[in-house]
Amino acid sequence: MSNRKVLVTGGAGYIGSHTAVELINAGYEVIIVDNLSNSDRSSLAGIAAITGVTPTFVEADCCDREAMERLFAEHDFQSVIHFAAFKAVGESVAEPLKYYQNNIGSLVNILDLMRRYERRNIVFSSSATVYGDADVLPVTERTPRKPATSPYGNTKQMAEDILRDSVAAVEHLNGIALRYFNPIGAHPSALIGELPRGVPNNLVPYITQTAAGVRECLSIFGDDYPTPDGSCLRDYIDIVDLARAHVVAIDRMVEGRNKEAFEIFNVGTGRPVSVFELVHGFEEANNLKLNYKVAPRRAGDVTAVWADTTLANEELGWRAERELTDTLRSAWAWECHVRNIKQ
Ligand code: NAD
Ligand code: UD1
Repeated sequence: MSNRKVLVTGGAGYIGSHTAVELINAGYEVIIVDNLSNSDRSSLAGIAAITGVTPTFVEADCCDREAMERLFAEHDFQSVIHFAAFKAVGESVAEPLKYYQNNIGSLVNILDLMRRYERRNIVFSSSATVYGDADVLPVTERTPRKPATSPYGNTKQMAEDILRDSVAAVEHLNGIALRYFNPIGAHPSALIGELPRGVPNNLVPYITQTAAGVRECLSIFGDDYPTPDGSCLRDYIDIVDLARAHVVAIDRMVEGRNKEAFEIFNVGTGRPVSVFELVHGFEEANNLKLNYKVAPRRAGDVTAVWADTTLANEELGWRAERELTDTLRSAWAWECHVRNIKQ
């Protein structure tokens, strides 16, 4: 079994492609499995252009038992990073079974194969959504989870529990759940980035598409929250910083430095930023004006959530490094790359 090989499920997607780059840069060999349901092969070309290495790519569905069994039989990776999942909150409310089937089904399949093929380490993509509307801020990993407000959020809570129970039951298995806050931005090369399909739900893709003229006007969802400027507060984490957190999580397990077989870490900056601050930060970073208006609150939004990152800082030896201004520049550079806009 090779401890330098990592299977990256969903590796053609936004976070997976950036993580593949950082893994390759750290000397790991990457095998990507993706069914391209929310991505395309251009990200694989981007990874190759940045690193000079073309990762092994297997086009398959992680819920497909036979295809995944073949993959495990053919490749001797010791570790897995499991990104593959659906992530649209609104869609999950309309089509819950699609989300339970894909997000839970893929994880159960992977864990069962890891058990049978004696693979050791798994990093799972969890989310700050598990904290819901927290009573005390910033949230630590010990902050109680709140009942999920969407089937998507519920899949993250269920998946954390499934992982914890599997790791407890299988002697050779180690797991780390990373709770991402709000990942934004793109690789500084602008060769990979986020490719939302249709109208973006998330703030930064909406901002960049508005700046590009694809959307007419950004709606700021609420200016009457009990926050300093009335808009919501979030913890926006640069995508390359987030990708690096996966590398140190894998290193930790490969080197046997994990203190428990199952661990959870917040991955954020520890700094709350309001929607208005982000919009104005984007304008200043890129020297342009954005068309925006204040709109009613969006159903399901929490007022504020940001991370206490002490545990990740001290235990993983990881911290967010990239300046928000640089991240917002990278987001715009990527949009310009996608739309063929001269900056
Ligand atoms: P993404 O949609 O860009 O990437 C997910 C990738 O998985 C896509 O390439 C998709 O084609 C693939 N995929 C989905 N189901 C699959 C399956 N059954 N088999 C094979 N491939 C499959 O999303 P992302 O933003 O990169 O998110 C990655 C993970 O991080 C997801 O689990 C998501 O829930 C989680 N997460 C994301 C955010 C965020 O803001 N982006 C925040 C918290 C957690
Ligand atoms: C959303 C999801 C969350 C998911 C995360 C990452 C909801 C309720 N939550 O989190 O489960 O883990 O994305 O995919 O969907 N905003 C605007 N205008 C916009 C878009 C957003 O003002 O057009 C505001 C929102 O009100 C929020 C902030 O920007 O205050 C960030 O929004 P978004 O990027 O969607 O992330 P979250 O809501 O934090």
